[in-house]
Amino acid sequence: MQDQLLIRKVPHTVRSWIDRERRQRGMTQQEFILSVLEQAQTSEELPLFASAARSTSSAIAPESIPFTFTDFFAGIGGFRIALERIGGRCVFSSEWDKYSQRTYHAWHGEMPEGDIRKIKPADIPSHDILAAGFPCQPFSIAGVSKRQALGYAHGFRDKNQGNLFFSLATIIQQTRPPVAFLENVKNLQSHNQGRTWEVIRRTLEDLDYVVFDRVIDAAGWVPQHRERVYIVCFDRKVFGSKPPFEFPEPPAEKPTLGSILEKNPDPKYTLSDHLWAYLQEYAARHKAKGNGFGFGLADRAGVTRTLSARYFKDGSEILIPQEGKSPRRLTPRECARLMGFDDNLKIAVSDTQAYRQFGNAVVPPVVEAVAKQILKVIAWHLEKGCLLKRTKTARAN
Ligand SMILES: C[S@@+](CC[C@H](N)C(=O)[O-])C[C@H]1O[C@@H](n2cnc3c(N)ncnc32)[C@H](O)[C@@H]1O
Repeated sequence: MQDQLLIRKVPHTVRSWIDRERRQRGMTQQEFILSVLEQAQTSEELPLFASAARSTSSAIAPESIPFTFTDFFAGIGGFRIALERIGGRCVFSSEWDKYSQRTYHAWHGEMPEGDIRKIKPADIPSHDILAAGFPCQPFSIAGVSKRQALGYAHGFRDKNQGNLFFSLATIIQQTRPPVAFLENVKNLQSHNQGRTWEVIRRTLEDLDYVVFDRVIDAAGWVPQHRERVYIVCFDRKVFGSKPPFEFPEPPAEKPTLGSILEKNPDPKYTLSDHLWAYLQEYAARHKAKGNGFGFGLADRAGVTRTLSARYFKDGSEILIPQEGKSPRRLTPRECARLMGFDDNLKIAVSDTQAYRQFGNAVVPPVVEAVAKQILKVIAWHLEKGCLLKRTKTARAN
């Protein structure tokens, strides 16, 4: 049963305003008053959004909206870098790997909380955007084939890693961020004949979020072919069932590998003749069997293959040809650039850990481009919510 609300002593001016406005919108009196109350409630529940909206009397500029966010499966903070760049303030982070925590602390001055499964949702401050690149290994092509070969479970059947999505879903359910912004490997959507993705999408929709998803290749922003699925979810109770969200288009000019290479890389990154001979022989053997896997010599005028978390092993997926000697692998700094991380971020861990961390990370410039589109929807929502107020101001003038 729905509650009743009777309002007495409505001032005459308010009464005629209601009549005028609801007629213009083709709404009944009840529909109009309820929509005004719902918008007022939303503004109250999104305090930062609301203050941004109150402070402006003209169209709301998306880039001027302050917002808060949380950073789950934070790694080295790829989401954080991107969201802070456009005015976000991080209020909570979680990452359990001690080396990633070390980098995160060095770069962001904050030690993330550990295992997500031990975090109580009640301890998470209220926030506007929840960001999470949940673990992809149980879903990635490399992860799945390795796990299958070793007889391990993958996807949701992987008790430890696959089910972490549900820890995240519980946090979303209990903290109700207006927006959830997730990222994963492209293979998430084809894993287990699409069933894994179906469960994820349905879980988010059942939580009453409108879900948008798109595979985006980071090659439009950085010189690396890196396809990832970006999942943007809007709380239906806040934004309605048709938030006008659109994924971004890549910039017109694409960067090339040559632009991020170091001038004088340390010779230690050159492959030993022995390793180079082994890689060539391994590739030839696999080619003969009809398999495409092998080393990848990168073209300076083009983009590289995807940097993986296993790059530290032999660097074979991205090798830089060198005149008169064996090719070399990328330096950790070059990997940072390949992922779109700025040079002012000092690498605080060993080469091995740095390669792993960059290979696991999101590409901040892509996250930033998607997040700017999210802010446009928030601005649209605020415009809607503040329309009545601004109309009144305009009339007073
Ligand atoms: C795909 S990476 C995300 C990287 C991150 N988006 C970035 O830009 O660096 C997933 C991260 O989840 C972390 N992780 C895995 N299981 C976890 C758990 N139970 N609790 C907290 N973090 C976890 C891993 O250590 C890894 O850093």
